[in-house]
Amino acid sequence: MAEDLSIITGSKQEQYASLLPQVKALLEGEPDLIANMANIAAALKEQFGWLWVGFYIVKPAPAGEELVLGPFQGPVACTRIKKGRGVCGSSWANAETLIVPDVEKFPGHIACSSLSKSEIVIPILHEQKVVAVLDVDSNEYNQFDETDQHYLGQITGMLQWV
Ligand code: SME
Repeated sequence: MAEDLSIITGSKQEQYASLLPQVKALLEGEPDLIANMANIAAALKEQFGWLWVGFYIVKPAPAGEELVLGPFQGPVACTRIKKGRGVCGSSWANAETLIVPDVEKFPGHIACSSLSKSEIVIPILHEQKVVAVLDVDSNEYNQFDETDQHYLGQITGMLQWV
């Protein structure tokens, strides 16, 4: 297992291209989901320096299911999010990636940190069901686009759900 991440400068695409094989190597041979989510969050945070990178996992709750905070890097965050609430809950409810250039303009956005300005949430599907989301927050407006959607989707696709 690689112990040190090689961090590069360059375009977003170049940064992802350098990071992807390293994340793949980190996950190789390790079936534990939480360990792998933790390393993905750490690798993304180290390479891109975003404000917050982490997972919310769909778990049973008294009234159905909720997103519950999983491995993350960054400031402390909200623990539970209901289906359809905020950016994460909407991504879960609709099984779609949400790119939010200005979080203050997203109806119902849940402000875990007042420093967050833009956000992307990628749903993670297993057997046609959303089982978790990857949430990335930046302290600058307009930081996420289709390139992030593409590569973050590839990275979350490396997680093995059983
Ligand atoms: N802003 C998210 C909540 C999670 S935190 O940003 C870590 C949302 O609206 O779903």
